[in-house]
Formats: sequence, structure tokens, C-alpha cells
Amino acid sequence: MTEDPPTSRPTAVDQPTSGPATEDPPTSPPTRSPTALTPPTSGTRQKTPWTWSSDPYDPYDPYADALRTGRGPLYLRRRDGWLLPLEVERWCARADAVDLEALGRCEGAVLDVGCGPGRLVAELAARGRPVLGIDVSRAAVAHTLRLGGQALRRSVFEPLPGEGRWNSALLLDGNLGIGGDPHALLSRVGELLCPGGLLIAETVPVDVDERVEVRLVSGAEVADADEGVFPWARLGTPALSRHARRLGWRVVDQWTAGGRSFVVLRSRARRRTRSASSSAEPPNSTAVISHQRAAKPCAERPVADS
Ligand SMILES: C[S@@+](CC[C@H](N)C(=O)[O-])C[C@H]1O[C@@H](n2cnc3c(N)ncnc32)[C@H](O)[C@@H]1O
Repeated sequence: MTEDPPTSRPTAVDQPTSGPATEDPPTSPPTRSPTALTPPTSGTRQKTPWTWSSDPYDPYDPYADALRTGRGPLYLRRRDGWLLPLEVERWCARADAVDLEALGRCEGAVLDVGCGPGRLVAELAARGRPVLGIDVSRAAVAHTLRLGGQALRRSVFEPLPGEGRWNSALLLDGNLGIGGDPHALLSRVGELLCPGGLLIAETVPVDVDERVEVRLVSGAEVADADEGVFPWARLGTPALSRHARRLGWRVVDQWTAGGRSFVVLRSRARRRTRSASSSAEPPNSTAVISHQRAAKPCAERPVADS
């Protein structure tokens, strides 16, 4: 299979097709927190507050601040006060040896889900691999574009270019937590990949299977306990393998390196019948931007590594 890379580089951060977020600020601030960032339930899209992507009119966006300086401290804070430190410095550095070991398993065109500041997208692009990062954070997408990668500001649960045709997807650095519902996330990634596509996921290096409500904090804030709260999940390798097998994924590889642990899953070689919620890209959708189509994504069969 040949891999035609997307034909041109995006020049601007793209926006979700629904919801009030716009790159050009409207003339007055939104009165409510926007948009749909959680998994659809029973085919409907839920509205939730901003999560990693703060309201652009709120001057306090700890994630954007951290990405700007390239430094923490930044944590996911659980309601009970437990703090999960986030490795901002590592995310803002170049891909390291442990990352490269994971990236070396990629096949064909790669979708980096929750690409953050873009070190993985930049590394894959530099190696000539067709790759697109998606992230709900405007700061993350802008950072990825600055590194020379392609990225869209889009939730994984919104319509995306190349649905059903990506050869590989990445869920690294804890991104299995996105949406707080591993079943919904794995199902969605299965829709994005071609049949027999590859998911490379990073798990928590202990045996945990946890759904939590968290918010992003830098440590100093005294905020309303409910403000900015969003669902997140933490899965160790056994839990991911269990969830994935139930959905028809096959575990094809797993390893640990540098204190991090990884699992490679392969999706079903054939699709099951499409469910109502699988139509994230509606007919006649304008969400797929022609110049950003995932280049060749899988045609009829999984792509052998190039
Ligand atoms: C743990 S950080 C990942 C860091 C990233 N992998 C890197 O290389 O720097 C989680 C990322 O997922 C993004 N995210 C959260 N919810 C998302 C969603 N529904 N769709 C896409 N990205 C999302 C966040 O904005 C954040 O950048």
C-alpha cells in the first residue's frame, strides 16, 4: 500500500463543527461553558464543561500556561484531593527513547489522539510518516503546528478526517483516560481505524481500573470544587486487555520501558454492523476538510509497516 501524505499543511487551527467554540472570538464572551467533549451516550452527544481546553475568556488556563512555559507543576486533582502529577516537561521535550520504541510499532497513517504539545506528531512527521494530531486544547494544537506537525482542534468524539481509514492510533501519556469511559473511547478509536488497524496505548504501570472525576490544577488555586471537573479513567494493562477483548480487539504486544507500560491492540479485521453512535461523521458532513484528508488511509486491508 502506498501512503500519500495529506496534500497540504493546515495553516490554522480547525474547530469542531458543532458547539460555540470559534477561533475568532465572538464579540461577547459566551455565557455558558461550551461544548461536547465526552463520549456520545446511546447515539447522543453530551454537553459538558470544558475540560483540558479552558474557556478562551477565562484568563486562567493552567494547561495553556504550562505548555507556554514548558513546565509544571500541573496535576489532575481527584475530588478526594489526591493529585496525579502530569509530566509537562516530558511532553514539551522531544520524543525520547521510550517514545521511539512505541512509535516504531506504528503502521501507515497515524492518528495521535490527544496529541498535547505534539512531540509525537513532530517525530513521526520528521520520519516522513503521514500523521495527524487531534486535541481539544487550543494551546496544544498551536504548539503542535509550531513544531511543524499537522493538528486539528477537535475532540476524538467529534467527526474527524479519514474515519475508518487510519492505520494506527496513539493513546499515550495517560490518554486512555479521555472521556472517562474506556469502553466508549475504545469503540470510537475502533471506528476511526481501518479494519485490522493498530492501537498503541500507554497504560498505568500498576493494576488499576478506575473512573474518576478530576480537574486540572497547578497547585496554587483555591477554586470551587465543582469548577472545571471532568471524567477521566486510569487503566493498567490487565484492565485494558479485559475491556479491549470484550470489544473484539486482540492484544498483540505489550512491554514496559523507562517506568512506562504499553499495549498494542489490533482491531477486528472486519467491521461489525455500524451502530447508531458510529455515525460520528454524518452524511454530507463538512467536517472533513479536503486538504486534510488522512491520506490514504487503509484501503482494503491492514497496512504492512513501511
Ligand atoms: C495526558 S495529556 C497528553 C499529552 C500528549 N500525549 C503529549 O504528547 O504531550 C492529554 C491530552 O488529551 C487532550 N484531550 C482531552 N480530552 C480530549 C478529547 N476528548 N479529544 C481529544 N483530545 C483530548 C488534552 O487536551 C491533552 O492535551
